[in-house]
Amino acid sequence: MGVYCGVMPSDTTAEQLKQVEELKGVILSGGAASVYDSRSPKCDKQILAMGVPVLGICYGHQLIAHTAGGKVGYGKKGEYGITKLNVKDGDDILKGLAGTEDVWMNHRDNVEKAPPGCRTLASTRDSKIAAYANARKKLYGVQFHPEVTHTPHGDRILENFALRVCKAKRQWSTRDFINQSIREARETIGSRRAILGLSGGVDSSTAAVLVEKAIGKQLTAVYVDTGLMRHRETEFMRKTFSRRKLKLRIVDAGPRFFRALEGVVNPEKKRKIIGELFVRIFEEIALKEKAEVLIQGTIYSDRIESGLTKHSAVIKSHHNVGGLPKKMRLEVYEPLRDLYKDEVRKVARKLGLAKEIVDRHIFPGPGLAIRIVGEVTPEKADIVRRASHIIDEELRRSGLYGRVWMGFAVLLSIKNVGIQGDERTYRYPIVVRIVESRDAMTANFTRVPYDVLEAISTRIVNEIKHVNRVVYDITNKPPATMEWE
Ligand code: XMP
Repeated sequence: MGVYCGVMPSDTTAEQLKQVEELKGVILSGGAASVYDSRSPKCDKQILAMGVPVLGICYGHQLIAHTAGGKVGYGKKGEYGITKLNVKDGDDILKGLAGTEDVWMNHRDNVEKAPPGCRTLASTRDSKIAAYANARKKLYGVQFHPEVTHTPHGDRILENFALRVCKAKRQWSTRDFINQSIREARETIGSRRAILGLSGGVDSSTAAVLVEKAIGKQLTAVYVDTGLMRHRETEFMRKTFSRRKLKLRIVDAGPRFFRALEGVVNPEKKRKIIGELFVRIFEEIALKEKAEVLIQGTIYSDRIESGLTKHSAVIKSHHNVGGLPKKMRLEVYEPLRDLYKDEVRKVARKLGLAKEIVDRHIFPGPGLAIRIVGEVTPEKADIVRRASHIIDEELRRSGLYGRVWMGFAVLLSIKNVGIQGDERTYRYPIVVRIVESRDAMTANFTRVPYDVLEAISTRIVNEIKHVNRVVYDITNKPPATMEWE
């Protein structure tokens, strides 16, 4: 929305908030706890009396009610997914919405009584008070999530809150972020040398170009070929970055990664092993380059899912965050740590990164290792890489590539029976996963036309000898995650 936002832990006090320059409003976010859990995140009661507008979302909506004299009840029935919202009063934060709206819910507890002086703005079948407001005290709550794409008019609600209620101005721009980050990188790194883990994804590429602008030749970008990378990735990297000023080192480490992963099945173990090995390789290169700082392209959603604060649940350890070993010799610097993916793409475009990089689908740090359910071997990596490449090509051919978040293959370490060329076969099944998302926190499977799915399936079984079955994953996130591990 062009309004600068800072993220602070839930134990921040009203006194600390008062120190924030030009504080216009506060949003209490959602979370997994119940207000009745003894260790659930609380909020300093004084924050609600500061005269600064406060909007609670989901858990935040319940927390305001619980803290300011309302009542939260244990939900007998949860609400999960798209839900119909009946808007009764569109004067406040719901201004501009229709009488009935689709909203995305993800909760069990319910607000049974709003805080004194609050009007009920909207309800659903199972939440009598799905939104409330007290314009005099500037307290607002919504049980649903306006911040996810599955609430189609959620942005309007956030805009109403930020621009109308808080009277914030759209002043925060990509250009400001770039200038501020260049200054910060210079101050943090100083005259030291740094290395950067370049994966070819938009995050690390953006971090590389940004930091290169700040410290020039003091930076060496390191691309580690783990043997678990995309189809012809090393070639792509060499070609793409040879056009820029960036100093690039390519490390061929496939055999080391496969050795380290031998016999490992547990997904979290895979991530930790890969994270650790990456860092050891970076340390070796750092020694050669005399570098003291390791720069990573970690973004905000990676940090949340890896358990950012003491209250966020660990969904999975993104290898460049939770997967980092406790002891390491390098100081870590993450210039994109507060950005979401769509913001990184905006910064990348502004910095003039190649279109192939900016618009590319995400590829996870642990690579194909988390797209092979079961033990990782070079043979399986090759199968899943080729299958993913076919999906990629067919998505581009059908014009769907730019409209989905990701499309990839997953290999299951089981075998199934098929018939090919009049012969019984006993081979691997491949799962096709194609999802839509805005910020990686939630996702829907894509309703891909059957002819595209058929083209993918036919090519996979025809071109990859070890596969005789292709299935399509039709699960949203939540309850599933995008990756299978
Ligand atoms: P999930 O599976 O959590 O994925 O729904 C959300 C997005 O994050 C990517 N992902 C990762 N990226 N290291 C990364 O750099 C990781 O360990 C990792 N795990 C998931 C995933 O590809 C998707 O875009």
